[in-house]
Amino acid sequence: MDEERVAMISGASRGIGAALAEELAAKGWRLSLGMRRPEMPAWADPSRVGVFTYDAADVDAADAWARETLRIFGRIDAVVANAGIMIAKTVIEADDSDMNELLEINVKAPRRLAKSTWQALSASGRGRIVIVASLSGKRVKSAKSGLYAVSKFAAVALAHGLRHAGFDLGIRATAICPGFVATDMARGVTARSDDEMTDPRDLARIISMLIELPNEASVAEFAINCQLEESF
Ligand SMILES: NC(=O)c1ccc[n+]([C@@H]2O[C@H](COP(=O)([O-])OP(=O)(O)OC[C@H]3O[C@@H](n4cnc5c(N)ncnc54)[C@H](OP(=O)(O)O)[C@@H]3O)[C@@H](O)[C@H]2O)c1
Repeated sequence: MDEERVAMISGASRGIGAALAEELAAKGWRLSLGMRRPEMPAWADPSRVGVFTYDAADVDAADAWARETLRIFGRIDAVVANAGIMIAKTVIEADDSDMNELLEINVKAPRRLAKSTWQALSASGRGRIVIVASLSGKRVKSAKSGLYAVSKFAAVALAHGLRHAGFDLGIRATAICPGFVATDMARGVTARSDDEMTDPRDLARIISMLIELPNEASVAEFAINCQLEESF
């Protein structure tokens, strides 16, 4: 791989984002990690990894982070919109503020991130955008996941919209749709043990493979599950 390629990962402090950062660093990517409280990971080489303040709720954060990334690294080849939240309420229990928060973090922030990096991704000639959506963006599994699913269906649609808008610019966009992954988020909503859920390191290997595929191997959606369901 081109040793100079640069990937931005939001929500890289823990869970899937942290596992992905470590995987991509091992594969030779230079990394711009967006976190609410920036902290250099213990494994990182600070000459190849930068940590930046990124709060998805702040409407100016994506522009600032993209600008800093370009100033430090000079290019952006891949963006992984991973930062996300879960509010375990039914569509009836929830009030507007819950809905707004989910849409802000899970949908509007990833769109802003894509917009802020669009020019740099086009200049790459093989820009990649990964929207970490969910199987909850493909089906509604339970009442309590209903509200979250509304946001993740929108996140999947966002990935498709980006894929269409970017195709002629060499940008490829993918919606990743995992079921339960062994992170704090899933531990908060299921009694499953970590062994019964997808390992975030396996998800990291999948995302790494996807963003390294050539322009002629566009993957619109990628679903992963730890359990058997009718369609996934
Ligand atoms: N775990 C699952 O079962 C599962 C399944 C399907 C999809 N997903 C999706 O995968 C993504 C990553 O989740 P995870 O499982 O790794 O969960 P996690 O362990 O709870 O980590 C969530 C990450 O998102 C960050 N984040 C949350 N709100 C943020 C904000 N306002 N600004 C910036 N960063 C923010 C967190 O940062 P802090 O450390 O600052 O809180 C953390 O780095 C999410 O989009 C989630 O919806 C997860």
